[in-house]
Amino acid sequence: MRVLILAGGKGTRLFPLSRENFPKQFLKIWNNKSLLQLTVERALEFADESNIYIISGEEFKFIISEQLNEINADCNILVEPEGKNTFPAIVYGALEIEEGTMLVLPSDHYVEGDLYSYFRMAKNFAREYLITFGIKPNKPHTGYGYIKPGESIGDGIYKVERFIEKPDFEKAKEYVNSGYYWNSGMFMFDAELFLEEVERLYPGIVEAFKRSVKDGYEACENISVDYAVMEKTDKAAVVPVDIFWSDLGSYDSLYEVMKKDKDKNAILGEFIGIDSKRNLVISDRLVAGINLEDYLIIDTKDVLLVCKRGEAERVKKVVEILKERG
Ligand code: GDD
Ligand code: MG
Repeated sequence: MRVLILAGGKGTRLFPLSRENFPKQFLKIWNNKSLLQLTVERALEFADESNIYIISGEEFKFIISEQLNEINADCNILVEPEGKNTFPAIVYGALEIEEGTMLVLPSDHYVEGDLYSYFRMAKNFAREYLITFGIKPNKPHTGYGYIKPGESIGDGIYKVERFIEKPDFEKAKEYVNSGYYWNSGMFMFDAELFLEEVERLYPGIVEAFKRSVKDGYEACENISVDYAVMEKTDKAAVVPVDIFWSDLGSYDSLYEVMKKDKDKNAILGEFIGIDSKRNLVISDRLVAGINLEDYLIIDTKDVLLVCKRGEAERVKKVVEILKERG
């Protein structure tokens, strides 16, 4: 099996870190390893390094090779001529892979649990179906795709009756209450099947890619695979997975998954805490805290964010104010 790891996202939600041309997939959040490195290590459990492809833009090529070196993984790197979201990235990846089963993995998630058994089962259906992996939702989150499972086509796999990418809040609430799944962002299919579907939905695109990658990207809209293919195809299937999954959409969820010291502080950098507990500190400088509890302290070259834990969603507001200011 080949694995395509999507690593070109800009990750705009983790301000001020994400602004520094350093999206969250490269952040070293666990045992000094980044989400990208953790994703590659997971992929190496069932694919050889020569069968793993990491796709992103030129701007991240250096950091990707560096992070691959650090974990001694000599994977392939595909460089996109421009970032146009996940649809062209997966078409490009599928054309490189050409044939056989491919697993598409995002690089900006944290997962814990045995995905391998689900992948092995799904592989039997990858010639006929574009397979998604569904997570049981626990709140009406509007940043995810929602999947309505239909008839069973095997043990633990269902046809997708509807796929709705990023619905509004009211709809999301309705879907959570009606047994829909969240789309985890991982996909599996045979490369040929995916390209057939692309060709059917967007005649001429595959041909453009075959002329040159640059032509292919020019022929594509800036669109995610979720809108471009998953919402439109009638060949989708879903495998519900029972694992711990977080898309680390905020500093609060980042704190939850990070390793903590004995005082439950999660630190990237150096921290001297006196009577300080349950803080998240990210800084290149030494940070000292006295009687500091439940804070998020994110220190970058030109912005210092200090925020009470549990309020991290409101970082959005700061970004809005900055945008208004221009
Ligand atoms: N190579 C490349 N090029 N990778 C990209 C690009 C691009 O232009 N844009 C995004 N990616 C990568 C990101 O780095 C990430 O690993 C993955 O593709 C998904 O992109 P996101 O931008 O993070 O998507 P999302 O989180 O809004 O939505 C997707 O994931 C959700 C789960 O977290 C969708 O698949 C949703 O349906 C899903 O619920
Ligand atoms: Mg994401």
